Amino acid sequence: MTKPPCFTFADLVAFAATALATAFVPACAEAADALLSGTIKSGSGAAMGGVTVSAKPDEGTITTSVFTDEAGNYYFPPLAAGKYRVWAQALGFDTARGEVDLGPPRQHDFMLSPITDFERQVRQLPGDLMLAGLPEETADDLRMKRLVRNNCTGCHTPSYILQHRFDEAGWSAIIDLMKRVSVYGAVVPDRAPNGILDFHQKELAAYLARARGPGESAMRIKQRPLPTGEAARAMIQEYDVPIDPDVGQPYNVVTNNGSDWSKGTPSGVMPGFGVHDSWFDLDGNLWFTCNVPNRYLTIAKIDTRTGEVKPLKVTAANGLAAPAHGMTRDEKGIIWFNVNPGRGGIGRLDPKTEKIDVFIPPQGMSPTGGATTVDHDGKGKIWSSAPDGALRFDPETETFTEFKSVTYKTPNGNGLTYGLAADRDGNGYWAEMIIDIVARGDGATGKSSEIRLPPIQAEMDKVPPDVRKHYASVFAPDFNTPFPWSQGPRRMGTDKNGDVLWVGDSWGGNLARIDTHTLATTFVPLPPNLQPYHVHVDASHNAWTNLWMTDQVARYEPGADKWTVFDLPTRGSEVRYVSVEERNGTTQVVMPYYRTRKVAVMTLRSEGDLAALKQAAK
Ligand code: HEC
Repeated sequence: MTKPPCFTFADLVAFAATALATAFVPACAEAADALLSGTIKSGSGAAMGGVTVSAKPDEGTITTSVFTDEAGNYYFPPLAAGKYRVWAQALGFDTARGEVDLGPPRQHDFMLSPITDFERQVRQLPGDLMLAGLPEETADDLRMKRLVRNNCTGCHTPSYILQHRFDEAGWSAIIDLMKRVSVYGAVVPDRAPNGILDFHQKELAAYLARARGPGESAMRIKQRPLPTGEAARAMIQEYDVPIDPDVGQPYNVVTNNGSDWSKGTPSGVMPGFGVHDSWFDLDGNLWFTCNVPNRYLTIAKIDTRTGEVKPLKVTAANGLAAPAHGMTRDEKGIIWFNVNPGRGGIGRLDPKTEKIDVFIPPQGMSPTGGATTVDHDGKGKIWSSAPDGALRFDPETETFTEFKSVTYKTPNGNGLTYGLAADRDGNGYWAEMIIDIVARGDGATGKSSEIRLPPIQAEMDKVPPDVRKHYASVFAPDFNTPFPWSQGPRRMGTDKNGDVLWVGDSWGGNLARIDTHTLATTFVPLPPNLQPYHVHVDASHNAWTNLWMTDQVARYEPGADKWTVFDLPTRGSEVRYVSVEERNGTTQVVMPYYRTRKVAVMTLRSEGDLAALKQAAK
């Protein structure tokens, strides 16, 4: 458990259970002794469960959110005394806002009114519902919908693009640009336009204009139930990451940070530092890597008590901060990340001393790269993606071993590595996302092999034969532009207490479960409309997966064959990594928000935790 201002979760529960709030002596100067609770009703007077309620101090950078229970009541953990902005949100309802001055326990109730205007309803939607609402009346509609889902959402969450309306010519102009850009939005001059977008440009523009155009919309807004049970007990703290001071006016102002859903989903072109992967250190502070060019920050620490962000810089050959991307924390608490000061290597950070060492693979070996992911195996070795395979680093001898992908160049795209994971036996795995291959490096023999994921046959069957024939000659320049039947193995995680590798198949909408001994592969579909990204396996063998395409995170319990989906309080979270911290009986899920530049920590609260807070709030 980290320190939500000065307390452990056990402290808080013990404190609340005594119901002697006034007798409680704060453990530190900035006392966290203010309780905030309340009731939420709709205009008709009915209690509303599953409503997201958020509080942010006027002078602070940490937003805390909770959900109402079935009786419409919410309970915050003890918060530091002071002035707060508070707001309550539910899909289909207007944001209700208020202010509270916390010191003595406060009760703050809200009344929510439904939104009647169609465009304002759309603007508020998270990615999964935005996609779900796209027309699907005919076979052609379904084909187009798959194209939008697969080819328009890898670089940005669907709620960002579909909140906009353009006529057919407008959408065509958008596609004209999108078929030529990199994931960061820069035009890649010497690259052929993406073959799939190019081929379907006209019908796709017409389809998008029918759904999100100037005329009457063919979009049908779908609802989903608000959070209940365990998901409604979750508490989420979101830490703002400051903006880059070098970015000049008028761009160094954040006009929308996703916290107020009525403003829609923010653009990722924010004057911020990138926030890619994130972990807790063993002292309960957070660390995150930055992959966006800047002068100050390669990796940074967030003090979870104050929210203060401390950047650390590895200076690159060009004087800028060397970009980083993937990270992991080993058993001893050392943080490992990939870093590129001119040639891609591995960084080692001791969070206690904040000292960084950088190790660069020798010439002749591939550098770390691709969209790099870093993991550690059960033998004390560190693994990292390389563009055409993976690298293993031995911290004892400070030497690298290289593993090459068996298949790399193909007529339909190169098997650029994205995700990577290492198992407890000392083997590594990496995702060749464009060509649906999970490669494996045998730790003992140094040999590479590969597991080919089968295409999604039902999607292949929907593609007319002439189009399928055309696709055979299409080259996918990156992993955000797949075929309709692609699985899209993106990032992955191993069970460190088992023999299972879980792979997030972003386009297949499933987790591939690979037995690390037999390599037998099965597929576990996600709940409808959800697509996975990275996977972190917790100590109870559960697979957590972040859903970059909507503002949720999901947990799969293999024993019970059960999914639980948790809501996040920000529109445009676009989480591209997840790590899980389990200490003192508390589970915390860390989610770096790539789009809105925050790091979120979701703490699971038990029924007992809530009962204690309820008692204390009386
Ligand atoms: C290879 C990456 C990539 C792909 C694929 C991609 N885009 Fe984009 N797009 C971007 C980036 C980067 C931005 C800039 C801002 C952001 O993401 O916040 C952007 C911005 C947009 C915008 C906002 C434009 C504005 O002026 O407000 C729309 C709309 C959009 N994209 C639609 C699409 C559609 C439709 C597709 C599929 C046909 C698509 N994009 C595919 C990278 C991509």
